[in-house]
Amino acid sequence: MQQTEGEEHARLRRLVSPAFTARRAAAFRPRIERIVDRLLDGLDDGTGRVDFLTRFAQPLPMDVITELVGIPADRREDWRAYGAALAAVNRDPRVFPEPERLDFGRPIGGHLGYAYGPHFCLGAALARVQVEVAVVALLKRFPGLELIAAERMPDPGAWRLSTLEVAL
Ligand code: HEM
Repeated sequence: MQQTEGEEHARLRRLVSPAFTARRAAAFRPRIERIVDRLLDGLDDGTGRVDFLTRFAQPLPMDVITELVGIPADRREDWRAYGAALAAVNRDPRVFPEPERLDFGRPIGGHLGYAYGPHFCLGAALARVQVEVAVVALLKRFPGLELIAAERMPDPGAWRLSTLEVAL
């Protein structure tokens, strides 16, 4: 769908969008909670330190989506460049003070994390439920969670982390 435009894109979107409504995403919440709980159960291997990326952040959306539908995994080069542009505008300090700081109290709205216009992320409602469930459950389970190390991938085409080590 991302690779189509105009009429064909609109036709595809009309076909699949009933599966991606906010109501559907909300109905999916209990299943997301179960998936999140299962991942959190396996998080602490006794060392008190964990690579959050490989043990939680990466498997979560995969586990959720395989319960729901399949999405095409490969992303084209031009799409990556577009993603980099979106990542950059979301970190524009003129719009978002201290853009690198994770601040759940930021005023809502204005970001382009899910894009804009006709290709606006179809999974946004689901992703929002997923993120909310995950963050709430994570902080409830590990209230002392602390960042140890975060590193970005040496990839100008995407804003991705290679390391996200945390203490539980
Ligand atoms: C935090 C998680 C997510 C982020 C940040 C995100 C971000 C985005 C962005 C930026 C686009 C625009 C791509 C473009 O313009 O070509 C997009 C498109 C799309 N996303 Fe997401 N997404 C997320 C989760 C999901 C999930 C969970 C699903 C499916 C269940 C999903 C399905 C789609 C689809 C189908 C499109 C293509 C829409 C179109 O071309 O009309 N996304 N997403």
